[in-house]
Amino acid sequence: MAEFVQVARLADLPDPSHHLFEVDDRVVVLAHLGGQLYCIDDICTHDGGPLSDGGIDGLEIACPRHGAKFDLRTGKALTMPATEDTLAHEVKVEEGLVYIRLNDPDAPRPAVPTPVVSTAGTTGMPATPESTFGTNEVVNDGVAKSSPSSAAEAESTNRELSEDRVREELKKVIDPELFVNIVDLGLIYNVDLVPHESGKIDVKIDMTMTSPMCPAGPQMIANSKQVLAAIDQVGNVEVKIVLDPPWTPDKMTDDARDQLGIF
Ligand code: FES
Repeated sequence: MAEFVQVARLADLPDPSHHLFEVDDRVVVLAHLGGQLYCIDDICTHDGGPLSDGGIDGLEIACPRHGAKFDLRTGKALTMPATEDTLAHEVKVEEGLVYIRLNDPDAPRPAVPTPVVSTAGTTGMPATPESTFGTNEVVNDGVAKSSPSSAAEAESTNRELSEDRVREELKKVIDPELFVNIVDLGLIYNVDLVPHESGKIDVKIDMTMTSPMCPAGPQMIANSKQVLAAIDQVGNVEVKIVLDPPWTPDKMTDDARDQLGIF
């Protein structure tokens, strides 16, 4: 087991405040809140975001990159897109000095993110597992492309427009952070079809995000409009972002949970 390492004087850590320390080559964030000290790894398990740069609300710290929240007491991942806990460490105070002991100094650290160029220019997509999308091929604009025969394409074009069909089409839109389609993630709250005189049907969608700070939002909105506008019967497409009720993981389908390895 690792030894306790002295990192600071308690008097130098105002309450509330949080600080970065390097302990045995591991970077940790130490928070002083409500008279208590908490210490967790400084790396978000989603894609390596620096937790110490994020905001603290109560006993939760939010990753500044995509908004995943972690419990400062336990390191538990509380919200998507993080699905793995980060490591919490022991803290003690003796004679006014603060000590940290790493809980598992040899635990693997999440990879520090590498910048990835997205053709859509909004957010990066890490190297991607093709198997996530079944038979669909995923291109890095966040839209899954299947390769239907021309007969199947024609049949699809002539099909009546319904809410089910809209949701089916929206499954082509992939969340570029989670690599799961936005319908199975539970991001589509409502679909309205409004026929108008021209014979076309306007589509109005209420869409939410896995977190209010999700940087992939503009890309997913644009991709949703793109796949729906490609349907012959569709007139205007309106996508409204709705954050109430907030998205929670229980809105995901079993397929999405399988793809994310959540059981
Ligand atoms: S890197 Fe932290 S939520 Fe994505």
